[in-house]
Amino acid sequence: MFPSKVPRVVILTGLVLLLQQQPSSPKEPPPVAPPGAGSKNEVSVGKIEQPPAAPPAAPAAHDDSPAPNADSKPHDIPQSADAGLEPPAASEHEALPPPPPPPAAAQPSGHPGAADDHLGTTPPPPPAEPPKFEHGDEHPIPPPNNCPTELNFLAKTGAELHLSSHVKYNRRCIQPIFSSEVDRNEVVNISTPLTGEGKTTVDMKNCAANKLPKCIPIKLTVPKPYPEEKFNNMIFGISTGYDRLNDASSVATFAHWMAGTDAQLIALVTDMPERSAAEIRALNKRFGDANIKATLVRALDDSFTTSQSHFTVLVHMLNHTKPETQWYGLLDDDTFFPNLKPLADALAKFDHNKDYYIGTLSEDFAAVRNFGYMAFGGAGAYLSAALAQKLGDNALKCIEEATAPEGDIIIRDCVYRHSKAKLTILDELWQQDLMGDPSGFFESGVRPINLHHWKSWFHLRPERMSLASDFCGDCFLQRWRFGTDEVLSNGYSIAKYSDGLEELDLNFMEKTASNLNDGFDFSIGPFRPLINPDKKKSFLFEDANIDDKGVLRQLYVWRGNAEAGEMDEVIELVWKK
Ligand SMILES: *[C@@H]1O[C@H](CO)[C@@H](O)[C@H](O)[C@H]1NC(C)=O
Ligand SMILES: *[C@@H]1O[C@H](CO)[C@@H](O)[C@H](O)[C@H]1NC(C)=O
Repeated sequence: MFPSKVPRVVILTGLVLLLQQQPSSPKEPPPVAPPGAGSKNEVSVGKIEQPPAAPPAAPAAHDDSPAPNADSKPHDIPQSADAGLEPPAASEHEALPPPPPPPAAAQPSGHPGAADDHLGTTPPPPPAEPPKFEHGDEHPIPPPNNCPTELNFLAKTGAELHLSSHVKYNRRCIQPIFSSEVDRNEVVNISTPLTGEGKTTVDMKNCAANKLPKCIPIKLTVPKPYPEEKFNNMIFGISTGYDRLNDASSVATFAHWMAGTDAQLIALVTDMPERSAAEIRALNKRFGDANIKATLVRALDDSFTTSQSHFTVLVHMLNHTKPETQWYGLLDDDTFFPNLKPLADALAKFDHNKDYYIGTLSEDFAAVRNFGYMAFGGAGAYLSAALAQKLGDNALKCIEEATAPEGDIIIRDCVYRHSKAKLTILDELWQQDLMGDPSGFFESGVRPINLHHWKSWFHLRPERMSLASDFCGDCFLQRWRFGTDEVLSNGYSIAKYSDGLEELDLNFMEKTASNLNDGFDFSIGPFRPLINPDKKKSFLFEDANIDDKGVLRQLYVWRGNAEAGEMDEVIELVWKK
């Protein structure tokens, strides 16, 4: 399909680009032994292991290995745990957007402009009339238990999301019909619209007084939920900095796909030597409390870069192998799975006793040209047990032999030098090298095994979005047309197209991403043109929960412009079995 030999000049160009983007090496500050930590460099739930302070059998030759970059890089990307394979423009791109607005508002909104519209710091010009409602964080959180029960979720999250004090509100009660016959690619037409009938204004400051119209029922045929399954045949490895692992979203997102599954996570904490034993214990406890089988480990060699550790975490993973371990997933720290079942099913088609190297390319052919034909880090590299053992046995040699310092390139080079395995591509894995507005991707009917870049290139809460997959399996991002002009992309948006749906070819991805060019033709093209924002009103997913009765509530929000006197508008979908 693609040339397996890339011209040398291209590799060199790639190398130059790579060298300019080298993530920071964790070695600069002198390592301070955590008080009382002794030689512990590994902590796992329920037990504390004590691997040797020096890497096992570390050959002296290691010192001669190309110490890539450490000092020559023009800028550090602190804590970056990506395999480093951002397309050339990535770091530039990440430098461009202004710092996000207040966290509560910024977090859920991956949609450029959405949160800024009314939360800007410039005070609005004094209005002619006093506004009838307030925006942003001016309004107090409504007293609990003050709202009609059905409004509790809106009231709670409305305050967290800094919605306006009054919102225009629509509610629909989805009655799912579970079926194993669903054609997931079909976009079924539903005559009842999601907006219009039943619309009301909700006053969050006087919540008890709100009278809700009846919840209009809509029947939707959806796939069955995934069966409860254990995935103790899979072990995953990541390499990242303490703060990135410990941030607000991190444990929650890992928990979404790992909690209670018996899949193992080996998290190499690149700055472990600089962290106190108490900090490591606290992080470890967070994972344990979240019912994740995690083991925190220290770099095999403290001089390794994050990218080198991205590969050498495999040595730790092999040490935690169980008789049932079949697949080794080397991931970026922001690789996310809506559910592990589709990955497990896809891998089960291959024999883990043979050498398999599974993953996918970047969607951007320029990145493939620059970095090579390999499993790109964000989509993950999945090694069969047989191949993992071969690479593990050669790990330190592979660090020396690698043609570039980046994690997924080290993996690829190691595979190619020490086995006959070649890349097997799984189409439903995604590197997600799409910049800017990701709507086109999420509204394309895609059935992603994984997501990536959700906390860097755009900002989403994948563990809330994909609660849909807890409720109805493969229905996450499934689409339906409603009324004459609305499309639901489940867990991402409800879009209302003022020109209707007749001309809208939903087979193609809308060109919302900012970096699309013909380099994407081989992967996801052709695209449909970007719709003028005046003709597409997007209610973007902002939050969801599943309550103890198993009811899924999703909030889709259109952010009004306070200065133009617009309230926020909310559509709540209540999915009840
Ligand atoms: C792996 O296990 C062996 C044997 O228990 C031990 O000597 C070695 O230090 C371990 N390596 C790592 C990286 O944990
Ligand atoms: C569904 O709606 C679309 C857009 O209005 C239309 O083109 C299509 O024919 C409809 N499909 C069915 C099965 O009615």
